[in-house]
Amino acid sequence: MSGVGAWSDAELRAAIVEGRDPKSRLAPVMPSDSYRALTPSDLDAIIAVLRKTPPVDSRLPAQERHGALEPRNSIPGAERPFSETELANPERRGVYIASLARCMGCHSGEVSGAPDPQRRLGEGGKVFRTPAGAAVASNITSHPTKGVVPGRTMS
Ligand code: HEC
Repeated sequence: MSGVGAWSDAELRAAIVEGRDPKSRLAPVMPSDSYRALTPSDLDAIIAVLRKTPPVDSRLPAQERHGALEPRNSIPGAERPFSETELANPERRGVYIASLARCMGCHSGEVSGAPDPQRRLGEGGKVFRTPAGAAVASNITSHPTKGVVPGRTMS
C-alpha cells in the first residue's frame, strides 16, 4: 500500500496538524507547526483535495532517522485552530495566512539548525543555495533600519 487512501479523516487530520502518523511522529520537514492554525473547515477542505488526488502506487526509499525528532514551534498566535470569527479580524487573518504560507519558516532565525519563530521571529539569515548563488532570507521584522522599511538600502 502506497498512498493514504485507507487512512481515516482523523488520521489525516493528526498527520497534517499534529505531525503524527498512526505509528510515530512525522519528521519536522513536514511542517505541521504551520498548519495547526487551520480552521476545521479548511482542514476538511485540504483532506477533500487529498481524497481527490488520483491514486499512484509509488515505490519510495525507506525512511532513515538519526536522533530525536523534536516538533517545531508555531508562530506566536497560531498555536491552535482559528475560528471563522477570528478570520473576520484582519490582523488575526494575517497571522493565519502567514502561518499557512510559512513565511516565518524561512524568515525566522535558526536555533540548533531549525527555525525558531518563538525566539527569533522574522529576523532572517537562513541561506538558500540556488544555481544563481546564495539567497539570504531577509529580516522582515519592523526594525527601522534592518527590517522591511521604505527607503532601506540593500547591503
Ligand atoms: C521558501 C522560503 C521563503 C518563504 C516561504 C517566504 N520567503 Fe520571503 N524571502 C525569502 C528569501 C530567500 C528572500 C530574499 C530574496 C532575495 O533577496 O533575493 C525573501 C524576501 C522577502 C522580502 C523582501 C525583504 C527584503 O528585505 O528584501 C519580503 C518582504 C518577504 N520575503 C516576505 C515574505 C512573506 C510575507 C512570506 C509569507 C507570505 C514569505 N516572505 C515567505 C524566502 C522565503
